[in-house]
Amino acid sequence: MTSNLTDTRTGRSSGSGRTDGGLAVAAVAAAPTGLDLAGLTSATDAGAPGGRAFPPGFVLGAATAAYQIEGAARVDGRTPSIWDTFSHTPGAVVDGDTGDVACDHHARFEQDVELMARLGLQSYRFSTSWGRVCPDGGPVNARGLDFYDRLVDSLVEHDVAPWLTLYHWDLPQALEDRGGWTSRESAERFVEYALAVHDRLGDRVSTWTTLNEPWCSAFLGYTAGVHAPGRTSPADGLAAAHHLLLGHGLAVRALRERDPSLSLGLTLNFTVADPVDPTDPRDLDAVRRVDGQMNRIFAEPVLLGRYPADVLDDVRGLGLEHHILDADLEVISTPIDVLGVNYYNGEAVGHTEPEVLVDGQADPGRPTRSPFPAAEAAYRHPRGLPVTAMDWEIQPDGLTRLLTRLHTDYVADYARGCGRGRAVRMSVTENGAAFDDEADATGFVDDTRRVAYLRAHLGAVLDAVDAGVPVHGFFYWSLLDNFEWAWGYAKRFGIVRVDYETQVRTPKASALDYARIIATRRLPAGDEQP
Ligand code: FCB
Repeated sequence: MTSNLTDTRTGRSSGSGRTDGGLAVAAVAAAPTGLDLAGLTSATDAGAPGGRAFPPGFVLGAATAAYQIEGAARVDGRTPSIWDTFSHTPGAVVDGDTGDVACDHHARFEQDVELMARLGLQSYRFSTSWGRVCPDGGPVNARGLDFYDRLVDSLVEHDVAPWLTLYHWDLPQALEDRGGWTSRESAERFVEYALAVHDRLGDRVSTWTTLNEPWCSAFLGYTAGVHAPGRTSPADGLAAAHHLLLGHGLAVRALRERDPSLSLGLTLNFTVADPVDPTDPRDLDAVRRVDGQMNRIFAEPVLLGRYPADVLDDVRGLGLEHHILDADLEVISTPIDVLGVNYYNGEAVGHTEPEVLVDGQADPGRPTRSPFPAAEAAYRHPRGLPVTAMDWEIQPDGLTRLLTRLHTDYVADYARGCGRGRAVRMSVTENGAAFDDEADATGFVDDTRRVAYLRAHLGAVLDAVDAGVPVHGFFYWSLLDNFEWAWGYAKRFGIVRVDYETQVRTPKASALDYARIIATRRLPAGDEQP
């Protein structure tokens, strides 16, 4: 196993050395518990002094994903995805956790939507499960679609705008058995699945994103071996990346043909990599590689219609060029309307191995390697910043810098380039933090660090907006505590606590604070108590 920039999503240690690092806010006083939010939503103190207003039209919501919350793994004809297989593989997931039951959202969605409405969420970003809609990646299963039909009805009824993601990592295992994302076939099957979902939900859902974080699907899944399907091949990761992008482009094309009025796009995850020593060319090269093989390898084909030349050079010999057929880049750069930006943390990258690993990762008990296909000398260095329970450094200004950079490099001129007259709108589709929550006897969590994290990152978005970068929305990850991939249930990101024994949902202090922010459309000043 290599230690360079191996993802911190797997491992056995729970991280160490967490501090509040100045982000802490004063303790939440006498916050309501349980689902009793009545006093809260009426507490619209929009006239209160201080704080910062969100621009008109800015959407505030929260996100989840199918495998992480739904459960009902064998209900109504759903067949296994690569995550079912992976989570049932001994040693792959902490504590042997699986998504078999998860938050039992499939059975409890009505209650969950009611909760969203009570929190005042304007929009809910969720994903559909491919194996529920098209078992084994094959023909459409009406019973599987019935669930999403009811979910969307309920969202619309409660005035929560649905934002649908078609692929949040749960490839049908049957397709993996035929090569998975290393095979072109998966891209073609993906289009059939996308159209099946659209046939049923297209009349009520207007925002459709194809992929969530193809970097994770391709490189954590096929190169690092820490996510499903658990392969450890740089060449497979590159093939998967290309076919994911192709599936995205084909699906956007097909959906656009069905209905030109849809808002279409995808969500990418980005890092903000800074050199450990900005005067050392070896550190600068390490940063270039990480930026190239994480950010630009996806952003440029989609938004500029080409793979970055330096990345193609770095990965030469690993077979990517053989997968890029003639019209592929034209398909991949089919004009989109929305770019979802996921940001959790930035990183300091250097060419030498640090004395202290940032992630403090213990042996995951199975072979893993760096997710980067061609960045051997690139290591993440600790900067002494506060970290979350994932050992991810907390760096809100990285989000401002990221949004500014994306605007400059890709968004501002998009309509004149690949957009062919269409503008692309950025929203933050994921941002959030896991902390070691402690619930009181009533199940309430006074998560002051999450409150501070959320406020700080909303502030970072507003900083970008103030600097002239149009950002249209923000979705907190996640509405609910849920199955955090290789970490199972050990990491809690929710603003709502889930007691996995009883499935009781309890809004945390962060949910109450977020609800107040949404109701007032105002981010409180730094010293204002939640
Ligand atoms: C993102 C994933 C999401 C969740 C968060 C913490 O990369 O899209 O499902 O795991 O990280």
